[in-house]
Amino acid sequence: MCKSIAVLTSGGDAPGMNAAVRAVVRAGIHRGFKVYGISRGYHGLLKREVTEMNLRSVSDIIGRGGTLLYTARCRAMMTPEGQQQAAEICKSLDIEGLVVIGGDGSFKGARALSNLGIPCVGIPGTIDNDIACSDYTIGFDTAMNTAMEMVDKIRDTAQSHDRCSVVEVMGRRCGDIALQTGIAVGATSILVPEVPFDLESDVISRIYEQKSTGKKHFIIVVAEGVGGVEDLAKYIEKRTGIESRATVLGHVQRGGSPTLRDRLMATAMGVEAVDLLEKGIGNRVIAYKDSKIVNFDITEALDMPREFDRHLYEVALEASI
Ligand code: F6P
Repeated sequence: MCKSIAVLTSGGDAPGMNAAVRAVVRAGIHRGFKVYGISRGYHGLLKREVTEMNLRSVSDIIGRGGTLLYTARCRAMMTPEGQQQAAEICKSLDIEGLVVIGGDGSFKGARALSNLGIPCVGIPGTIDNDIACSDYTIGFDTAMNTAMEMVDKIRDTAQSHDRCSVVEVMGRRCGDIALQTGIAVGATSILVPEVPFDLESDVISRIYEQKSTGKKHFIIVVAEGVGGVEDLAKYIEKRTGIESRATVLGHVQRGGSPTLRDRLMATAMGVEAVDLLEKGIGNRVIAYKDSKIVNFDITEALDMPREFDRHLYEVALEASI
């Protein structure tokens, strides 16, 4: 069993990362490890930004957004030289196991370090819900609830003015935030990168059909990966005569106090990660699959194809007519 472990957060931050750090630190100390917190992800590791944590270092953070360890995207960690240097720094600091909270890119770094003799365990932390091996990623629920709240407010003003509001939510390659938020706000159309669409049949016709039954305000939810909300609003206005506005929600979705679901998932995944390192097991990603916390080999996890919930998409279309 290794005696010292470390934890870092990497890539885009997500609400609930703090809860995961807290769980790793508390479970680690409880099981007899010395636990280090590494600031600013792999970038901080390469700069030796490493601090020993104690039980009270993680007090009062379970309900806070952001990450007290800070985060960064690190290009150097994508190179063999950077990976070698990171492994040597871990060895020189007696870090014998590492928990990496982040997304796919962060897990590639964790796999490289595992191959260089530092057992690493990844925890899916990203608002996008785009880790194929896991049905859930930490931050997704909070981000969607924030988006829902914001679109509800936009709907109020769209309704007062009989307008159409086109709203962009985050998700470059993954439409899960758009899909689930779109359902929750009763969007007329939801455009995601996973499903090809035709503006006439999937947006304009749906607006006309709803208008013919008396609807006067419309919400179109668009994933970031589809983009173009300003142009789309102009197009809708031109084609339908309905005054239209565009809103990009942006980084508001990445902040805020995590929901119960995110705190719970983060805590369960954090403890599971320590459990693996205690058994000397590395090169794994923690996942939530079929209502259970499980783990996968990192390469197996990275190679899994992501499946978009087409059924839920059909549900959205049928419920919003
Ligand atoms: O991966 C999380 C995410 O918020 C994506 O939804 C978005 O495309 C990206 O990060 C934005 O990154 P940045 O904070 O670097 O602008």
